[in-house]
Amino acid sequence: MSFQFSNRVPKSDSDPVGDILKVAGSPDIISFAGGLPAPELFPVEALKQAADKVFDKNGRSALQYASAIGNPDLRNQITQRMNRQGINCDVDNIMITTGSQQSIDLTAKMFVNPGDTVIVEKPTYLCALDVFKSYGAHIVGVEMDDDGMKMADLQQAVADNPNTKFIYTIPNFQNPTGRTMTAERRQQMVEIANKADIMIMEDDPYGAIRFAGDDIEPVKYYDTEDRVIYLSTFSKILAPGLRLGWMVMNKDLMPKYSLMKQSADVHSDNLTQYIVAQFMADNDIDDHISKIRNVYRQREKVMMAAIEKSFPAGVHYSHPQGGLFIWVEVPGDIDTIELFKTCVGHNVAFVPGEPFYPDKVTPGTFRLNFSNMSEDQIKVGIKRLGDAIKETIGVGQRAKVTEQS
Ligand SMILES: Cc1ncc(COP(=O)(O)O)c(C=O)c1O
Repeated sequence: MSFQFSNRVPKSDSDPVGDILKVAGSPDIISFAGGLPAPELFPVEALKQAADKVFDKNGRSALQYASAIGNPDLRNQITQRMNRQGINCDVDNIMITTGSQQSIDLTAKMFVNPGDTVIVEKPTYLCALDVFKSYGAHIVGVEMDDDGMKMADLQQAVADNPNTKFIYTIPNFQNPTGRTMTAERRQQMVEIANKADIMIMEDDPYGAIRFAGDDIEPVKYYDTEDRVIYLSTFSKILAPGLRLGWMVMNKDLMPKYSLMKQSADVHSDNLTQYIVAQFMADNDIDDHISKIRNVYRQREKVMMAAIEKSFPAGVHYSHPQGGLFIWVEVPGDIDTIELFKTCVGHNVAFVPGEPFYPDKVTPGTFRLNFSNMSEDQIKVGIKRLGDAIKETIGVGQRAKVTEQS
């Protein structure tokens, strides 16, 4: 039988990132590859109690079909959180989704025809790139520095691509770089979007996990024309297996999103929505988030200290103030896949930079995750990584030759 796939389906079955994660998952390897939250912080007992209460009080309605836009109690609680974070919205602006991944997919489905331009940070979240590609988007990457997307380059990209539908940005502790966009640039991004009459998709899974520095208002806070679609998720502040996220959008978009959501999955898991709403009614979720922050702050600190001790001079790395990731740039024309193989030989793993780039890849780049390993594993793993980098760029060899001669 020959399968006649649509143009949306990738031509090849190869899954380089899946293959990397498989190798990284071997028990001997200390893996900084995945983007997994620390499972020991999942509030298992409190969620169990919330689930028990839901079954006792609302079992039948929680197991019934429900509305596409989501559970009203949960949408109310999210509205209050959003208001506290500087987003001016009410419950009619909020839709529950099956994680931010679905919010990205629905938004691309809603706005992108084949050939339309989507502007992204370079590098960016690889699964968003996969979604945009599947809808035939022309993806334009804009360079970043430590302050986020460069606004002059964004301005140019918008001018060069009059068919741009939206800018996709991860302003806080970006995946993969850990960088945060300044308040000034957030405001400029909105001004550029206003002038060009294009939308912004603000993807913010990590903003609540700030462990250093001061909070910065979301891009949506600067949104004067209601053109920013803001996405967030319970994946990093509660647990990713819940598969619950939310969108804050212009009310006029709600009926169309509701229709698109119905055809995608009718609605997000109703039982899970009830449970999370009950959890939030009975517990202070900010208390829980501050526990996550404390652990990640410490792990990032340990990783940073180990990097400073073990990496050779000239290697650059980001200094995140929150989130889950550090971005490393090894100078020279390093093939990161080869470096990955050397690292696996040293029983340590990361995600090479390649899949995060929409076009030309910057060699020698890779992403490290610090949320999912113990402090001892971080110390040992970073030492191994430093040794592998030195081996690859020849620091040890040069030293040995000099000693012998
Ligand atoms: C930037 C970004 N957006 C979206 C997602 C998907 O999150 P969710 O689990 O809510 O689907 C992730 C997951 O790691 C992410 O890093």
